[in-house]
Amino acid sequence: MMLHNLTFLSTQLSDLQKGQLFILTDTNSAKYCLPILSQFIGKIPYHLLTIEPGEKSKNLESVQVVWDFLLKYRATREAILINLGGGMITDLGGFAAATYMRGIRFINIPTTLLAMVDASSGGKTGIDYQGVKNIIGTFTAPLTTLIHPNFLFKLPTTELFSGFAEMLKHALIASKEEWIKLLQLALSELSHQQFIEALSSTNALQTSITIKEKVVTQDPNEIGLRKILNFGHTIGHAIESALLEQQNTLQHISHGYCVLWGMVAEVYLSVVKLDCPREVLQQLTQIMLQYYSRPQCNCEQRKQLIQLMYLDKKNSANQKPNFTLLRAVGEPKINQYVSEEDIDEALEYLFSL
Ligand SMILES: NC(=O)c1ccc[n+]([C@@H]2O[C@H](COP(=O)([O-])OP(=O)(O)OC[C@H]3O[C@@H](n4cnc5c(N)ncnc54)[C@H](O)[C@@H]3O)[C@@H](O)[C@H]2O)c1
Ligand SMILES: [Zn+2]
Repeated sequence: MMLHNLTFLSTQLSDLQKGQLFILTDTNSAKYCLPILSQFIGKIPYHLLTIEPGEKSKNLESVQVVWDFLLKYRATREAILINLGGGMITDLGGFAAATYMRGIRFINIPTTLLAMVDASSGGKTGIDYQGVKNIIGTFTAPLTTLIHPNFLFKLPTTELFSGFAEMLKHALIASKEEWIKLLQLALSELSHQQFIEALSSTNALQTSITIKEKVVTQDPNEIGLRKILNFGHTIGHAIESALLEQQNTLQHISHGYCVLWGMVAEVYLSVVKLDCPREVLQQLTQIMLQYYSRPQCNCEQRKQLIQLMYLDKKNSANQKPNFTLLRAVGEPKINQYVSEEDIDEALEYLFSL
């Protein structure tokens, strides 16, 4: 996958003579990104389906809407579906394409930072069902994923930092050099636009994507190594679930923020259990306080959070919460089991900030 490679789109689409081109997007990506994409598609005709934005659209009804759309225009096996949007669109569109006629080709064109560095690669497609996130889905790789940083200029800042949290995760599990680079980037007080330009000019965006791709290529079905990508997510998912339970339904809970908070607590555990240098905890804490506010959880919720960790679908039956921890930056250790007392202490640290 390469940056700025939308010009290759026409090459990818050149064998479309027999099939048709379909684009799935949501109203925000349609407004801010479709005009840019159209320039690269040129004269190739396409059918467009625009759906409502937000996680609430990542469901079975929307899949049916996409299937109906493909069927309405008699899409054949040669058809290509472009998913233009954030992770909601790439997950939903990927799933609809993977199941229509037992699978047609799809191209992901992510328009959020989170989708660029995480959701649009790795081959996981899916939807939420009966209130359970990502419970129905497939492992199906896109034909290709095309990244263009200019799509990010109108992205809300919270969404930008949500994606940046996953970039910090990739650096922490894979590379001291990248970690230092991202630290400098985070602490240099750039404007929204400067920040996006720096993500591209310092190669930080490309490196982050490459880190995930390397891990996924070595362990596509999440048997071992891929678990390093769960760093920050055992505690992060518990916080996300707790916030979802207590939220008024209009409030949006950002996955990346929960992961960032989870990483702070899990670096704390790494310091206690694996002698990870304390400096890493201080650096990550500084980024959190500067950009990510504090989790809206209180100290009394520590028991509830620990219970939620036991329910996490990443655990095998009747198992204790499974953590990926760090011996140091770039040295992750999977399958770490930690006592409830230690988890409690890590949460106490997080909530005391
Ligand atoms: N498949 C995977 O491996 C994987 C990995 C991580 C996350 N995910 C999934 O990704 C989803 C989260 O992704 P997300 O954070 O991109 O959410 P999202 O797709 O809901 O996008 C967030 C918001 O940004 C808007 N938006 C998108 N592009 C924009 C742009 N360029 N300018 C302005 N606004 C824009 C969207 O309309 C939406 O309101 C979740 O459903 C999650 O389960 C999947
Ligand atoms: Zn994540």
